[in-house]
Amino acid sequence: MFDSGVGGLSVLSACKRELPNVSFLYLDDGENRPYGDKSREEVIDISEKCVRRLIGAGCNAVVVACNTATACAVGTLRKRFPTLPIIGTEPAVKPALASSDGKVLLLATPLTAKLKEYSDRVIIGEERTLASEIERVYPNPYKLAELAHAVENKYRGFSSIVTGCTHYAHLIPYFTRPVFDGADGVAKRLKNLLL
Ligand code: DGL
Repeated sequence: MFDSGVGGLSVLSACKRELPNVSFLYLDDGENRPYGDKSREEVIDISEKCVRRLIGAGCNAVVVACNTATACAVGTLRKRFPTLPIIGTEPAVKPALASSDGKVLLLATPLTAKLKEYSDRVIIGEERTLASEIERVYPNPYKLAELAHAVENKYRGFSSIVTGCTHYAHLIPYFTRPVFDGADGVAKRLKNLLL
């Protein structure tokens, strides 16, 4: 699997829990960080290079452990690597909407935020620098808690949060509202595909 940094580690943990006997290779693509403020074409190009590196290292399935790269590139990757199982990471908006009548705050990078349309019950929290800030302070729990409280206090009128960038999963323990994250869904899809 790959991501621009520590975000995808949350997806890795979920996959390891679901598939304890599978061996994983995690590509931290730090040299291209952050993905969220690049163009769609750049992220497609970067993602293709990551997939080629993972195939070269012997991987027989790839998890795009990044919402931004999934939103930009998963369709193109599946066309370019038609025999390789490729799983993307999507924001868990559907379960969040299904679980309450209130509004849902979707936190996402600018690129993820602009590539898809959501219902009017979704408040889009476009975060330009949050992934980079998390990258800088991870794994310091005090700093992560500060970031979580700051971002949660920035928006109004929502009853749950969707982490639309895998980096934001590191803030989950510090949010005060219910959170919906895509990592467990990725792990289940990977299991169905591999077993
Ligand atoms: N972790 C990535 C995501 O899920 C992107 C962070 C970034 O590099 O902007 O969107």
